[in-house]
Amino acid sequence: MSKLNLGVLGSGAGSNMQSIVDAIAAGELDAEVKLVLADVADAKILERAKRHGIPCAYLDCAPWKTKLEGPAEDRCIEMLKEAGVDTVVLAGFMRIVKPKLLAAFPNRVVNIHPALLPAFPGVHSWKQALDYGCKVAGVTVHLVDAGTDSGPILVQKAVPVMEDDTPESLHARIQVQEHVAYPEALGIIGSGKYRLEGRRVVIG
Ligand code: GRF
Repeated sequence: MSKLNLGVLGSGAGSNMQSIVDAIAAGELDAEVKLVLADVADAKILERAKRHGIPCAYLDCAPWKTKLEGPAEDRCIEMLKEAGVDTVVLAGFMRIVKPKLLAAFPNRVVNIHPALLPAFPGVHSWKQALDYGCKVAGVTVHLVDAGTDSGPILVQKAVPVMEDDTPESLHARIQVQEHVAYPEALGIIGSGKYRLEGRRVVIG
């Protein structure tokens, strides 16, 4: 059992970061958010971090649009290490992270994906599930490996798909479960009571 020192990377609203901050404040998760970085200068996640007094910064990832590589990746790793981060939390970070970051935090980069993986990797996965005609959708929190949305699964939560769902209403229902799943997954990592057997995360 050890306290986690978290570094959160995001691009958007930061509701998952908020759920982690709230779980810490409620004493449900033994962790501290050491640093928040966003690749979008006016991302709401930065506002939220400031409101909570969490160190945060904009990370300019140009010229790349969809990945974290090159000088930005180096700067990101340096800032996370300097902040004392031991676990990197991807919370709505709309970029592929590359092997260098993964090697800097082995088995300690975590992602949340709004689908029951391995179904519907990639973007707008809730819309993919709705268009496919799924009766159940959900969320996955997983360790990040070199693939896209493909690493070992820590936690999954399912939600029903309703007949009158729109992509927005389904995403909103999934997000409620995201906010439960992320603190739970980080709790598993912090507990140290899990092991990797191939791609299976065996808990306990
Ligand atoms: C969430 O739906 C997450 O699963 C996906 O991006 C969204 C981020 O939301 N990867 P937020 O910025 O945490 O509010």
